[in-house]
Amino acid sequence: MASEVRRAVCPGSYDPVTNGHVDVVARAATLFDEVVVAVLYNPAKRGTFAIEERLSLLEESLADVPNLRVEAFADRLLVDVCRDLGASAIVKGLRGGTDFAYELPMARMNKHLTGIETVFLPGDPRFEHVSSSLVKEVARYGGDVRGLVPDAVLAAMTRQFGP
Ligand code: PNS
Repeated sequence: MASEVRRAVCPGSYDPVTNGHVDVVARAATLFDEVVVAVLYNPAKRGTFAIEERLSLLEESLADVPNLRVEAFADRLLVDVCRDLGASAIVKGLRGGTDFAYELPMARMNKHLTGIETVFLPGDPRFEHVSSSLVKEVARYGGDVRGLVPDAVLAAMTRQFGP
């Protein structure tokens, strides 16, 4: 009997992807048969990076992970995306207690809506202070964020904000 593919979704804004994201997504890919990195966005809200650029930065940064693909979804509930993709779990990284407090109601709401489970992975402490918004702010004013984001993102931020 053929066994069912166990597929997980790693959702986020990824504006842009950081090394904290890369670590969590790559670890999720060791736990599931397939991982879909889902860039969820609201077309009315302009992020820093265009959706196409966020996708290509994710693809380049996660090129070493074979059982993974990257997709964008506009104006959708995460649970509907998961249902359409045939995913049985959502995977999120937690940097600490503040992330847990933010994520827990969403995990419970998603479970309430369709029964989907959320799996939390503890973030690597090397990236505890790393968020997309913080690395952008530091890079915008000329600070050094090498080692905190993939090289492709460093280059993209230099293009966006200047050297
Ligand atoms: O990287 P972020 O910004 O923390 O990601 C948040 C995201 C996109 C995962 C969250 O806002 C989300 O799930 N948005 C989709 C809309 C939705 O389902 N909202 C209800 C959540 S209970």
